[in-house]
Amino acid sequence: MSAEKNLHIIANNRLRFTEGPKPYAGDLPAPAEQVGHLHESQKQPSWNELAPLLENEQVKLRVADLLSRYPDPQGALLEVLWIAQEVIGWVPREAIRWAASVCSCSPAHALGVATFYTMYKHAPTGRFLLQFCRNMCCSIRGASDIIRYAENALGIKTNGTTPDGLFTLIQVECLGACGNGPVMLVNDDFATDVESGELTLKKGAALTPDRVDRIIAWCRDRASQMKEEPVRDALGGKLSGHLGHPGAPGASARAQVLDYAPPPPVLGVSAQASADGVTLTWKAAPEITALAVERLEDSSWKQIGTLSPKDKEFKDASGKAGMDYRMTASSGDRAAKPSAAVKATEKAG
Ligand code: FES
Repeated sequence: MSAEKNLHIIANNRLRFTEGPKPYAGDLPAPAEQVGHLHESQKQPSWNELAPLLENEQVKLRVADLLSRYPDPQGALLEVLWIAQEVIGWVPREAIRWAASVCSCSPAHALGVATFYTMYKHAPTGRFLLQFCRNMCCSIRGASDIIRYAENALGIKTNGTTPDGLFTLIQVECLGACGNGPVMLVNDDFATDVESGELTLKKGAALTPDRVDRIIAWCRDRASQMKEEPVRDALGGKLSGHLGHPGAPGASARAQVLDYAPPPPVLGVSAQASADGVTLTWKAAPEITALAVERLEDSSWKQIGTLSPKDKEFKDASGKAGMDYRMTASSGDRAAKPSAAVKATEKAG
């Protein structure tokens, strides 16, 4: 082969190749075979099967809250897809279509988003999704041996699920914990060992066969302690009686703070301008204990009123059409900032 052919020619500061890059001849799993990507062989549920899970009051309330937080509904797409994954366990095509219609974007766009981020799953997984890093640092430190050990311990191959539906094993790219390599995630939590009944990732502690055994035993123990899905509240996130992984793939395996709940949102705020100023109305969740109204003045928000949770409207006598308002809702010492933002529009008629 001539030297010319192999040499990169540098001209005008551009690197040019006299030959195109050669395809990698190794044995990599095709993207379609990975759980985090489109899985062509996966049977897709129909809309009629999914509708009861997605078109119910709880989901509608959460979606309305999300949409109220973004000026453009498309901004809520990631979180709307996340809700679909939370209630279904993965994101079937019809759920992606539903998310697109909720967020007023094209199904093709929603599909592109859902397949770009690997945390969206396009096939059901076991209750514990074991994600082993196979990237460079972990590989140098023995990831392939660890993965083979875990496959043997569970009796499955990569991308497989155990017959009891408890474990799915996949290989992923760098998890950003290279100093601990080889490393893995159990659902959303890093794990290289178990200590005092919790998954741990301690400085310099890498996965070893013994530690993989302990992590698998930890998962089985959690599953036996928690047979059923804990109840979530209508506004999302609150888990009661939680002892570990709630069973929904993608949810955290870490013990939850039992009294955690997201701040209640202000829903459906509207601001209508008339000759008397601007009138704000809203629909508030029952947990709200305080409300505040702010107006945008010279590029900064100025509080113009505090309200009781029983108030149903607020009048800004000096307000005009085109002004920006936002409302903050609090529940005890938790506050959402802002809970909703809106621009005043001229009252129709
Ligand atoms: S290479 Fe495995 S965590 Fe970075």
